[in-house]
Amino acid sequence: MRKGERNVLVIIAGTVISLMIFNGLKQAELGEHDREIPFYSTADRELMSAGGQIYKKYNCKNCHTLWTIRNIMQSVPAPALDGIGSIRTTDWIYNYLSSENPQSLLPSRLKAEYQMPSYASIPEDERRTLADFLGHHKVKDWYLDEAKKAECRKLTGEEC
Ligand code: HEC
Repeated sequence: MRKGERNVLVIIAGTVISLMIFNGLKQAELGEHDREIPFYSTADRELMSAGGQIYKKYNCKNCHTLWTIRNIMQSVPAPALDGIGSIRTTDWIYNYLSSENPQSLLPSRLKAEYQMPSYASIPEDERRTLADFLGHHKVKDWYLDEAKKAECRKLTGEEC
C-alpha cells in the first residue's frame, strides 16, 4: 500500500470512529423514551383490518399520515392521525366524519381543495368503523406531554 492510500484510510477510519462516538453520546443523552415508538393501537385484529380497509378505500392517505404511511405524490398539510384517539374521542371523530361541514367543528386555514372533505354521504356503518378504528390509535402520555410542551415553547417562546 502506498503512503497516500494509507493516509486516506486513516482519515476514513478516524471519521467513522468519531461518528460512532458522537452517535453513542447522542443516544445516551436522549434517554430511554426516545428509542421507543410512542404510537400504538388498542384495536383488535378485526377492527384493524376492517378500519384499515375503509381508510384505504377513501384514500385518506392522500392527505394524512398514519403509521408513517402517506401518499408521497401529494403534499397536503393535513395533520398526522397517529395517536388521534388520545386527543379525540370516537364520538367526536364520528361526528366530524358525519358533518356536512367539518370546518364548522375544526376551523381550517387551508385552501378549500386541501381541507378535510365531508364524509356525511358514505354509509353510516363505515363512518362508525372508521371512527372506532381511529379512536383506538393512541399515543403514550410522555410523548403527548413533550409534544404539548414543544408546541407551547413554540407559541410563547418560553420554557413551559
Ligand atoms: C383532501 C385532503 C384530505 C382527505 C382526503 C382526508 N382528510 Fe382528514 N383532514 C384534512 C385536513 C386538511 C384536516 C385538518 C382540518 C382542515 O384543514 O380542514 C383534516 C382533519 C382530519 C381529522 C381531525 C384531526 C384532528 O386534529 O383532530 C380527522 C380525524 C380526519 N381528518 C380523518 C380523515 C379520514 C378518516 C379520512 C378518509 C376517510 C380523511 N380524513 C380524508 C384533509 C383530508
